[in-house]
Amino acid sequence: MTPLDIDQIRADTPGTLSVNHLNNAGSSLVPNPVLDTVTEHLALEAGIGGYEAEALRQPEIRSVYDSIGTLIGADPQNVAITDNATGAFIQALSAIPFVPGDVIVTTRNDYVSNQIMFLSLASRFGVEVVHGPERPSGGVDVGALEKLIHRMRPKLVTVTHIPTSSGLVQHVADVGAICRQREVLYLVDACQSVGQMPIDVEDIGCDFLTATSRKFLRGPRGVGFLYVSDRALGLGLEPLFPDMRGADWIQGDLYQPAPGARRFENFEAPIAMVLGMGRAARYAMDLGLEAIRARAWALSDSLRTRLAELDGVHVQDRGEAQCAIVTASMDGHHPLDLLRALRKEGIHTSRTGRDSAIFDFDEKGVDQVLRISPHYYNTEEEIEAIVQALSRLMK
Ligand SMILES: Cc1ncc(COP(=O)(O)O)c(C=O)c1O
Repeated sequence: MTPLDIDQIRADTPGTLSVNHLNNAGSSLVPNPVLDTVTEHLALEAGIGGYEAEALRQPEIRSVYDSIGTLIGADPQNVAITDNATGAFIQALSAIPFVPGDVIVTTRNDYVSNQIMFLSLASRFGVEVVHGPERPSGGVDVGALEKLIHRMRPKLVTVTHIPTSSGLVQHVADVGAICRQREVLYLVDACQSVGQMPIDVEDIGCDFLTATSRKFLRGPRGVGFLYVSDRALGLGLEPLFPDMRGADWIQGDLYQPAPGARRFENFEAPIAMVLGMGRAARYAMDLGLEAIRARAWALSDSLRTRLAELDGVHVQDRGEAQCAIVTASMDGHHPLDLLRALRKEGIHTSRTGRDSAIFDFDEKGVDQVLRISPHYYNTEEEIEAIVQALSRLMK
């Protein structure tokens, strides 16, 4: 593992000159190569027109699929470009032919929008949604989940790898092994893990994996991607509402889905952002995902240790492995007030409320947390700066 050249990385990241950005789980600071890729393409579109620019940049656009594929250990033909992680999740869910009585097995830490979609499926199609129990230390109990899968025979198992609301990392590969053994469809939300740690869809054993560009991957906003396995494609799964990009041909009342995962795409895409996402994937791979994880998680561990030393601060992260999302509640202080005060000092954080993590926060007995999400480009000094600022603001 080559050590990261933090000075060079920060020189590549203009935002580090002016802010202490600890909101990478929200939207990260993009590095210059990504910024240049996006602005160059926008300039080309301004000069010759959007469709003409797209036609000219076909090889570069194709290479985005190669880059995303390499990033997650997939063949490029199993990758679809989507609007964002939610769009990818919708496309994947829409492909599963649910009928009344079907069961979706998920966890108590799955992303709130996904849970809302499951509830919608429950009310529209009579699908039953079952949440796997947690282990006392946090995270889904994989043994109990296996029994649940055996008993309920779900049509779909779905797990959010890293939730939006805590540092938990779920054992997605262990769940994948169970799904493969029992031939159950498996959908993983990797929105917070892509770009933060190595991801390999073969190791995970998933049929679908969803992600976004703007978070730990450090790409631009407004784009994401969906991985679809050969198994899912072989089962003939296709989106409920394909558009003309999702269809290869139409004849009378028949149509043939486009090959590979492209059937999950829409015709229109923000090409500058698509190219930017591909560049961000290459940037991360050049640095090395293992090195990225090691540094981001080490900074986060030391932040947790320092926060726990402050009077009235309660670190809320659970689970064996804890990632670069650090959450804490503060006695007598609303996280929003702290967030606003920190922002005035150029320190960026975010806040998560119970409405984004009802099961988890009720179990922890908290209503609001301050979410601090460092990345590898942050420094020990920046970690110390937020600890000092919080200590001062809480007095
Ligand atoms: C775990 C998780 N899944 C999905 C999403 C949705 O991502 P997007 O806003 O790109 O659709 C988020 C966003 O915060 C998230 O944290």
